[in-house]
Amino acid sequence: MIAKSKTKSPPDVDTLTKARARVEHKRLALELEGHDRRYYQEDAPKISDAEYDALRKRFSAIEARFPEFVTSDSPSQKVGAAPSGRFRKVRHAVPMLSLDNAFAEADVLDFVGRIRRFLKLGEDDQIDFSAEPKIDGLSMSLRYEAGELVTAATRGDGAEGEDVTANIRTLEDVPKKLGGRNVPEICEVRGEVYMTKRAFLALNERQKAAGDTVFANPRNSAAGSLRQKDPSITASRPLGFFAYAWGQMSGMPEDTQSGMIGWFERCGFKTNPLTRLCHSVEQLIAFHRSIEEQRSHLDYDIDGVVYKVDRLDWQERLGFVSRTPRWAIAHKFPAERAMTVLRDIEIQVGRTGSFTPVGKLEPVSVGGVIVQNVTLHNEDYIRGIGGDGEQLREGRDIRIGDTVIVQRAGDVIPQVVDVVADKRPKDARPYHFPKKCPCPLHTDVVREETATGEEGARARCTGEFACPYQKIEHLKLFAARRAFDIDGLGEKQIEFFFEQGWVKEPADIFTLEARNAKLKLEEIEGYGATSVRNLFEAIRRRREISLERFIYALGIRQVGETTALALARGYGSWTAFHDACLKVASGDEEAIAEMDALDQIGETVIAAIAAYFGESHNRGIVERLTKEVTILDAEKPKSNSAVAGKTVVFTGALEKMTRDEAKAKAERLGAKVSGSVSKKTDYVVAGPGAGSKLAEAKKHEVAVLTEDEWLKMIGE
Ligand code: IVH
Repeated sequence: MIAKSKTKSPPDVDTLTKARARVEHKRLALELEGHDRRYYQEDAPKISDAEYDALRKRFSAIEARFPEFVTSDSPSQKVGAAPSGRFRKVRHAVPMLSLDNAFAEADVLDFVGRIRRFLKLGEDDQIDFSAEPKIDGLSMSLRYEAGELVTAATRGDGAEGEDVTANIRTLEDVPKKLGGRNVPEICEVRGEVYMTKRAFLALNERQKAAGDTVFANPRNSAAGSLRQKDPSITASRPLGFFAYAWGQMSGMPEDTQSGMIGWFERCGFKTNPLTRLCHSVEQLIAFHRSIEEQRSHLDYDIDGVVYKVDRLDWQERLGFVSRTPRWAIAHKFPAERAMTVLRDIEIQVGRTGSFTPVGKLEPVSVGGVIVQNVTLHNEDYIRGIGGDGEQLREGRDIRIGDTVIVQRAGDVIPQVVDVVADKRPKDARPYHFPKKCPCPLHTDVVREETATGEEGARARCTGEFACPYQKIEHLKLFAARRAFDIDGLGEKQIEFFFEQGWVKEPADIFTLEARNAKLKLEEIEGYGATSVRNLFEAIRRRREISLERFIYALGIRQVGETTALALARGYGSWTAFHDACLKVASGDEEAIAEMDALDQIGETVIAAIAAYFGESHNRGIVERLTKEVTILDAEKPKSNSAVAGKTVVFTGALEKMTRDEAKAKAERLGAKVSGSVSKKTDYVVAGPGAGSKLAEAKKHEVAVLTEDEWLKMIGE
């Protein structure tokens, strides 16, 4: 049962009185601003694109009827909200605009009719359109000068975006140098950065295992992956890029949209393989239908198709209406939703003890994918008092037995967005959120604190590693591919060994073989001598482990793979890292400052490390484990640079680059960047306004360089 219908529609704009329209216009303006902010700056949209588009459409309809309501700061005048300010800003030579939307076939007919009238074409004159999938990612503008990539910028508010060049350079799909002949001196190639659904799911698994942020959809995870201060994190995330448009061009290599797509390919770009040239409205509609049918099988998210007039001279003549081109339109798809019954609610206890209520559904197909489980987020969501980032229809609460509307947000994580009120059975049961952990210890459940110290929505078991659920989840993470990567020790085996009491903590994995004389694993059904031999062999192979994997495998809250890598690189050896952690846990100011000075490590991670090593139970686990394995020193980034292995402190203002960029560059060359000057510091790079650190440098007789001297030293 697919329920594509929208929620109850508000009165027609044409029937509104002026006073009522004014009130609604004001309310919608505020609402749209909020959604723009969450979408563009916080990567945390609260509503689906289809819902957003509907709001925007209504807003425009009110403005169309009462043009006197339009102000210069109305959301209709902006493409998006301003950039978040973490990266250098880049002004686009040609603004990055957006597209008008069509929802119904009639909107497409109108679009083509408008073009015909504008160009004074007859009914029989053929207009060719390039029809392309509308990729649900992030638009990006890549500027090439003399064929070399010089800047990559996000869209931002359309006029000004963020400079993410260092991160974009790590994308395989983005050529650093344009291929082909006669490349114009200046070329701005535009297109969409996206993450495949498969990569998104895998990334979320890793994030979840590490207790890191789980992204709501591939678009958000692509955005999060691009907004990294350290390009090596972006490099570790599989991002793709499709080229489909351009900005400033010092010359045009082709005179049609389809020709330009061919040219992008000759330059070395990927373009979307589903793109087609259409010669009539019927072909456009058929294209829309065909792509919608393929939608759920594609490995990337799309939210519609885009039609563009193929002839560039016509595009030129058609031009723009406010912020959208007359020559293109996005023909959107409805959100993928379905109706089904909520049978039960279960609690899932994560590795860090956090509770996620999971709705068990009567299985239903949503956009080609069978959905049986939905996340219900947290207690407040179920009670209908959810906060930001959640999208249950206002005024609803969720009860067991309810008929619910399920939506695949960003086409992947399914959630309940509405409850069909008049289908609520008499015996529908309100859900009582557990006060105790379902584990045999029945430990108390607390609501986590938010960063501001308030009670958050997420509930958590207080048992830590005493809670068997958390122990088991930790063991699973420990043996998983990203951590110790022990073949033959999957989730099922771990559960089994744990239930038997054979493996209660990581160190036990390494003593299994010695204990097998008694356990006799080979006699257990489903095992056999060969698989037992293979398992022991796999375990033996992992007795030697890299420092970053080891740190990650400890299962410290907030310490995901990337953080583990940063810590490993920062400390170099297990002894140095372990000493530092013990000191941090005992509140040693100097050790805390040293950890804080590492790139990507901040208060939250330090607090989690302090909590972990502050717990004697955890220290015991770690101590027993280190007796079983050899931890290799972290590989120093390979570099023959003069600054490799040196400790550098930046102070004062830098003029040629931002502090973050300077830091990232130094680290790439193998230098260690510290936040404070000590006798171990090799260089202090001081710009205007340098203060106490300069004095410290003099005191410790540390070499002080100007920014230019530093750049010369690193060969810039
Ligand atoms: S053309 C002047 N083509 O949709 C407009 N946009 O709402 C140039 N998008 O910001 C954009 N796939 O992020 C165009 N094949 C495609 C697209 C596409 C996705 C996104 C893009 C843009 C937004 C416009």
